[in-house]
Amino acid sequence: MPIQFLEKGQSFLLTTRNTAYAFHLTPDARLVHTYYGAKLKFLEDYPLLPENRSLASFNAETFDMLAEFPATSRVMETESALQVRFSDGTRDLRLVYDSHTLSENEDELNILLRDEHYGLGVNLRYRLYPDCDILTRQVTLTNSGAEAITVEKIMSGSFPLPYERGEFRLTHLAGTWATETQVQRTTVTPGQKVLEGRLNYTGHAHNPFFALDLLSQEGYGATESSGEVWFGALQWSGNWKTVVEQAHTPFRVTRVSAGINDYDFSWQLEPGGTFETPWLTLGYSREGFGTASRNLHRYQLNYVLPRRFAAELRPVLYNSWEAVGFNVREEVQMQLAEKAAKMGAELFVIDDGWFGERHSDKAGLGDWEVNPQKFPNGLNPLIEKVNSLGMQFGIWVEPEMVNPDSDLYRAHPDWAYHFPNRSSTTKRNQLILNLSRQDVQEHLFGWLDRLLSEHNISYVKWDYNRTISEPGWPEAPLEQQREIWVRHVRALYNLVDRLRARHPDVMFEACSGGGGRADMGMLAHFDHTWTSDNTDPLDRLPIQQGYSLAYAPKTMFCWVTDMDLNKGNYSLRYRFHSSFMGSLGVGGNLNHWSEAELAEAAQLVTEYKRIRPIIQQGEQFRLTPLEKGDRELMAVQYLAAGQSEGVVLAFNRRQHFWRNPQRLLLQNLDPEALYTLSGDLLPSEPVRLSGQALMERGILPQLDGLLSSALIYFKKE
Ligand code: GLA
Repeated sequence: MPIQFLEKGQSFLLTTRNTAYAFHLTPDARLVHTYYGAKLKFLEDYPLLPENRSLASFNAETFDMLAEFPATSRVMETESALQVRFSDGTRDLRLVYDSHTLSENEDELNILLRDEHYGLGVNLRYRLYPDCDILTRQVTLTNSGAEAITVEKIMSGSFPLPYERGEFRLTHLAGTWATETQVQRTTVTPGQKVLEGRLNYTGHAHNPFFALDLLSQEGYGATESSGEVWFGALQWSGNWKTVVEQAHTPFRVTRVSAGINDYDFSWQLEPGGTFETPWLTLGYSREGFGTASRNLHRYQLNYVLPRRFAAELRPVLYNSWEAVGFNVREEVQMQLAEKAAKMGAELFVIDDGWFGERHSDKAGLGDWEVNPQKFPNGLNPLIEKVNSLGMQFGIWVEPEMVNPDSDLYRAHPDWAYHFPNRSSTTKRNQLILNLSRQDVQEHLFGWLDRLLSEHNISYVKWDYNRTISEPGWPEAPLEQQREIWVRHVRALYNLVDRLRARHPDVMFEACSGGGGRADMGMLAHFDHTWTSDNTDPLDRLPIQQGYSLAYAPKTMFCWVTDMDLNKGNYSLRYRFHSSFMGSLGVGGNLNHWSEAELAEAAQLVTEYKRIRPIIQQGEQFRLTPLEKGDRELMAVQYLAAGQSEGVVLAFNRRQHFWRNPQRLLLQNLDPEALYTLSGDLLPSEPVRLSGQALMERGILPQLDGLLSSALIYFKKE
């Protein structure tokens, strides 16, 4: 029974394979969180309600500090998850338990809370994914009264970490354009740490993922394979906020809250209206960060990704953006396509520049007609050529944007977000279309549907290349104008879903100036995300490792390009090995690659295809710690289901003093089985070892000095 209501203790208990989450219903009908951690043996093992008291006579009560869903109510000393204004001006909520329902297979729980006086219902929904040790939460508000209610803040979930256990450390992902998903770590101290996106997209600066691990009394945190970690990720691609707060309560409670950002937010909940928050994914691991990541990966592959391609392998892609930029003429594209096909690419993607007067980023966005100078007979001759070479064809679009220098903007200046009496700030010379507007939505659906209907397109790279400014919607009633933050994202999801329904065999990639839209919301509607515009193979390692903390490797495209920011003069093998960490793409200018390089690349693509099922469908184990990118060695293992075969990729940044590289201890193999090893092992290493030996004594990869890489393959006999 994954979810139970225990009459005796008046408590809800939600269990997965290894975890348990519990909260109590108090005699005065409030919900108080009591437990999140390892699954315990007996029902009696779970904690009871704590005593309801205040530290000082003027402090909030324990029940409020530990509320399962803390709404602004009475004395509010910690972050609130819900704040509303009723039509008479009351800004205080009194939510009491009304009823609950369990789904037939007992993996979904709905608890209805109601305000004591006003017609507001708050439905807390919990879903369990016992096989992934994942719990998801979501909230729906319903106005059953006669007057509108203004929602000023609504988060998807909030929970206190176990108190009286010790100190916590926060791990999160931060970065900038070209330096995305860098692992950050900080000890949690009294006060709030706010991570957020407030520029109408997920953002490069922060990512809606968090992990909190318990520090030992000696001050050590969890590792990749040991220690307690509580983690979560929000399934949302607009303004978001995660608050980690340590409050000075009797127990020094650390609480995490996550949801839509309340920054500039307001929602008019009309009588009879409902408001649904995005889902928040939560997990607990007592085996460190590795298990936390693998549980998230499995959950994404099994439940989040759009079903059509979720179980399929990702094609090896070629994209010419890094090679030719906006200069996507038919002739050059055809030349590149021939070489890409010979190398083994399965999908050829034409990037920015194929439409309107788009010769740089200064003009043309919005005018989605094929440019007749670049493609005199339209796109079909190129598509036919690509298809005849045995590849699928993909195309770049940026539907949510418009250049002021475009026919679309000249015809509909009011379609872009703007304020009256304020000039509009452009970024990358473009403005954002107001997707809250129905007419804009229909226009976008119209041209995208036509594009996909008139061409044999198998793949869409959907870009979003600016941060927002002047987020105005002056045509809407005043009380709805701040709803754009939510309406925009919902319209985006809806648009993609409609296109997918009409064109079910088209794959979609989410991109945003590199990795600005890497989040689980996108992964619920798109098949993958673009990780970063930085394709330098060395810089990529920490970006990709950070990405893998929260998101499945399969959802991440990694291109081999000609970029060499570190003046690394990388070997082709190193460049490919770095891109083997997820779904492989190639983006170099193949017209400049020598015959020998093209031949070596073709071999490497063949090698990737052989191990692709392990990398894309298997489990990932980071064999070296999460890092900021300055360690000597980084290594990662991928393991197929049933522990039957696997791959290790190892990268040396530098090598000192004739030292051997570090021994790599493999993980989660069958200790009884014999494995055969092949690939880049030191010659002195045995090529047949038991799973136990591979895990206990490890292997030494053959790494030769600066910027060298190794690929080791192993298979159960
Ligand atoms: C963004 C993307 C790139 C490329 C350009 C095109 O920067 O991240 O991959 O598509 O836009 O303008």
